[in-house]
Amino acid sequence: MKKLVSFISIILLLSGCAEEPQQQDQTKASITSPNGNIEVSLQLDKNGKPFYTVQKNNSSVIDTSYLGFKFKNQPELTKNFKISKVEETELNETWEQPWGEQRVIKDHHKQLQVSLEETTEKPRKLNIIFRVFDDGIGFRYDIPEQENLTGDVVISDEITQFKLTHDHKSWWIPADYDSYEYNYSETKLSEIDAQKAGYAQRHDRNITNFHAVNTPITMETEAGLYLSIHEANLTDYAGMTLGVTEHNTLNTELVPWENGDKVRTKAPFVSPWRTIMINEEAKDLVTNYLILNLNEPNKLENVTSYAQPMKYTGIWWEMHLGKSTWGRKDAEGNYTTHGATTENAMKYIDFNKKHHIKGLLIEGWNAGWEYWGAQDTIGFFDFVTTYDDFDIKKVVHIAKENGVDIIGHHETSGDAHNYENRMEKAFQFYEDLGIHAIKTGYAGGLVPKGEFHHGQYMVRHHQKVIETAAKHQLAIDAHEPIKATGLRRTYPNFMTREGVRGMEFNGWADENPPSHTTILPFTRILSGPVDYTPGIFQIDLAEYREGQAIQSTLANQLALYVVLYSPMQMAADLPENYAKYEDAFRFIEDVAVDWETTKVIHAKIGDYLTIARKQRDSDNWFIGSVTDEKARNLEIPMDFLDQGASYKATIYKDAKDADFEKNPSAYEIEELEVNSTSVYQASLARGGGVAISIEKQ
Ligand code: NOJ
Ligand code: CA
Repeated sequence: MKKLVSFISIILLLSGCAEEPQQQDQTKASITSPNGNIEVSLQLDKNGKPFYTVQKNNSSVIDTSYLGFKFKNQPELTKNFKISKVEETELNETWEQPWGEQRVIKDHHKQLQVSLEETTEKPRKLNIIFRVFDDGIGFRYDIPEQENLTGDVVISDEITQFKLTHDHKSWWIPADYDSYEYNYSETKLSEIDAQKAGYAQRHDRNITNFHAVNTPITMETEAGLYLSIHEANLTDYAGMTLGVTEHNTLNTELVPWENGDKVRTKAPFVSPWRTIMINEEAKDLVTNYLILNLNEPNKLENVTSYAQPMKYTGIWWEMHLGKSTWGRKDAEGNYTTHGATTENAMKYIDFNKKHHIKGLLIEGWNAGWEYWGAQDTIGFFDFVTTYDDFDIKKVVHIAKENGVDIIGHHETSGDAHNYENRMEKAFQFYEDLGIHAIKTGYAGGLVPKGEFHHGQYMVRHHQKVIETAAKHQLAIDAHEPIKATGLRRTYPNFMTREGVRGMEFNGWADENPPSHTTILPFTRILSGPVDYTPGIFQIDLAEYREGQAIQSTLANQLALYVVLYSPMQMAADLPENYAKYEDAFRFIEDVAVDWETTKVIHAKIGDYLTIARKQRDSDNWFIGSVTDEKARNLEIPMDFLDQGASYKATIYKDAKDADFEKNPSAYEIEELEVNSTSVYQASLARGGGVAISIEKQ
């Protein structure tokens, strides 16, 4: 990552140390964003309790919201504070992503660091650091090394609040400690209720507080602002969920360890950043890069030599459809229709070669799958033993000869403990084979038992995976992952992840509604890339499961390649289904996975959106537009194209009679000459979409 401009200035330093009595009574410190529109203040109330407020254009966005910690073995750190020092700095720089949705990112913020010290006999210190951007804020706790806070520190509660000013409309999923795989609900804050919304409990899931959400939670305010609360740089800490209480307040509820501890640490330490995106238009949320800006620069050398954006196919959907199996045998020891055979792999390699698709994921190649889901049989995957009908060396070799990279697979079945023990050997095995990417998975209840997918145990686990993977030149696509918090900036080999109710649900569960993909770019994807696995062309799945059908048109599936950002983007359907629609598959062949820039053209959360992205190192643009269950006519101005230049647009659109329920596979392909003054009149069917590739002439 290259730093283009770097400019740091200390513009103000107020010191309230003992020698300067005039500063001792200071109970408030404030800072504004570089353009002056957002103001954040940190104040102490009469009991010396710290709280913060946020204003945008002089209107309150966050009202009096308290800060601090409760600990297991010592008094809480929430009151009797004085302000001992205030420092203000400003940074204005741009930096470059090695791969991403936007190559050059601007980081212009002002920082306010408020040092607090207790007024008690044995005073402890707590710094609160705010960074204020023109489109939102981040703040974190910084606990310095100090004589009155030594040894093991166990946080039993972080009490950070977000007191909103009204009962905003919000888009949310429940605060499941184990899963983000849910449809979004749209309700007022006061109506956040997982039970009422019908979110079902499962043995491998855990919704403890029905009135709480996983983040990002996105809101539309009465004043027309768009807010999204999440966290950045989640490192060696617990994931944050948010409980709703009266007065429109969201309270931090950290995901616990098995014994109820929230965070086990030692001073000095910092918390993740608590982030609030504040935008005047919904579309600007999508291009709000504050979460990335709140992470550290790239720490990995030569990462671009192996962590490369790509499209991939997989021996995958056929197992979800029940056409083949992950295991070579079933639990009773009978042979099954195994998917990951050498022969089947050859079929996919041929397909990839013909269509210039770089990656091929193969699931179910390794022994142990017959025990999957049997929680009493732990430790059954060793990640290096192949089934006898799969010759991994031969497959990787022939794939390479044909320009195809095999993507390895490690389903841990939630047994993170077993994975940690075997990881080094398993990664070495892939490295020796010349494999450079792994899809990991944590489907099932977690082992060690009692730990949760989103607690500090798993935050540490994913960190270990990513650092070990880097050592072996491996990129990671994690399923059932820890939430994305922008760490891809620091570790660009953590390329993508699931953490979403993805395509797989359409194969075997209640299908994702058409509105789902019109919400994800404004919620889940604000945290980072998503491995949704789009591109199912055989929409009606009755052949595999009666009554099962994807809730989208085929053109909508194409648009998802632009709308749902991921540097690893799957072409998820079976080769034989793509063979029926070769002209439409052309879009998947052509569409880019690495972008110079992203422009959002339409954005109505839950209804429709249109995104245009320019391919990196190219003059080509791609547009994706999707709608919910309503048909829509949308005008797409092409004013982002170079003035005076002429382009060829290939448009993959819903046919006139297309409809996600009645006629999902009806599409048309049209070619047009376009330029920067063109306005394309798009007609999207119910559950439909349009995908456009634009090539400079
Ligand atoms: C769940 C993942 O989301 C899915 O993609 C994968 O095929 C299965 N686990 C098996 O690993
Ligand atoms: Ca999953």
